Amino acid sequence: MSVLNVELGERSYPIHIAQGLLGNAELIRPFISGHQVMVVSNETVAPLYLDTLLQSLTGLQVHTHILPDGEEFKNLEVLDGIFDALLRVPCDRQTTMIALGGGVVGDITGFAAACYQRGVPFIQIPTTLLAQVDSSVGGKTAVNHPRGKNMIGAFYQPRCVIADISTLNTLDDRQLSAGLAEVIKYGLIRDLDFFVWLEKNIDRLCQRDPEVLAEAIHRSCANKAEVVAEDELEGGVRALLNLGHTFGHAIEVGMGYGNWLHGEAVATGMLMAADLSCRSGWISRQAVRRIATLLERAGLPVVPPAELDVERYLQLMMVDKKVVDGHIRLVLLKDIGDAFVSDGYDSDLLRQTLAGQPPL
Ligand code: NAD
Ligand code: GLY
Repeated sequence: MSVLNVELGERSYPIHIAQGLLGNAELIRPFISGHQVMVVSNETVAPLYLDTLLQSLTGLQVHTHILPDGEEFKNLEVLDGIFDALLRVPCDRQTTMIALGGGVVGDITGFAAACYQRGVPFIQIPTTLLAQVDSSVGGKTAVNHPRGKNMIGAFYQPRCVIADISTLNTLDDRQLSAGLAEVIKYGLIRDLDFFVWLEKNIDRLCQRDPEVLAEAIHRSCANKAEVVAEDELEGGVRALLNLGHTFGHAIEVGMGYGNWLHGEAVATGMLMAADLSCRSGWISRQAVRRIATLLERAGLPVVPPAELDVERYLQLMMVDKKVVDGHIRLVLLKDIGDAFVSDGYDSDLLRQTLAGQPPL
């Protein structure tokens, strides 16, 4: 098993990564305080993995709440349903909440844990690649608003993250690829060696070779843990983790939640960021092509949706947490492995990128 630590002083916590962790009572029990547990999962993941998890929680008063499956359910109404389930028991302030599922379950459960009685203990058990390499680590929790993605939320760190790699065996190929987008992101923003390693190993990753998957998850989480330890509340360097997200969120919202997967939108968004960086004279066209090739080999889309025109993009991109004084700040690339936050790009060049004008 590989174990990483997110170093946040008294709120530091471990990330456990290995096969077959789900039913491991010895691993999970030390992070549970109180005698009540509320496991939140969804209608797809619960039939697959809830029973195994429950075996590690025997002797505790365990409640479960099953959400409908989909990004479109990461909203205030479904959040209210979680509060209702907690209050119906009623669950007390020592209750440990456990998120069992992908990023949607993790984000909404984490936000519920942050709010319920002003905060109860919380454990992340991510079951998608995307959640294992990104959303379960770092304490960003949120729900969507019809006008903007992840616009209502809180920073709230889990007590531990348990990434059982064997759960990825039941993930469909499209979801695996969506997770690879966030893996590739770490290489692009700060880890050239990892990007080169991904170029060598992407086929084995797509084939779910467990050894290669474990290394990719470990290296991704190590990158994320370092960034979060340096800048938990995104005053600076953490913003780089949003490479491709301003474009991607516009695609997700503009195309309707759930139509483009988050990872797919981020993949195309990262290429759009690379394209704008190239038009601006920072990254080379050859490097942009290298990025597009890796994304395509990972099974990800690289062509922005034709349905969104430039004005609609700009309108959607204005609802972004990096907007300051009405100006859209973007994460751009000086090179592969070297990202920066820019508000100095030329807005005509941005329009060219958004219009999908060649070269992209
Ligand atoms: P998801 O949670 O919708 O899961 C994808 C699909 O896979 C769902 O249908 C789910 O039911 C299913 N699933 C989950 N685990 C499975 C398994 N083991 N076997 C079979 N099916 C399984 O999507 P996601 O890609 O995990 O997460 C995307 C969400 O994460 C978005 O809402 C995004 O905004 C959020 N996110 C948050 C952060 C953060 O820092 N908090 C970072 C990145 C993304
Ligand atoms: N997924 C971006 C972040 O956690 O900051």
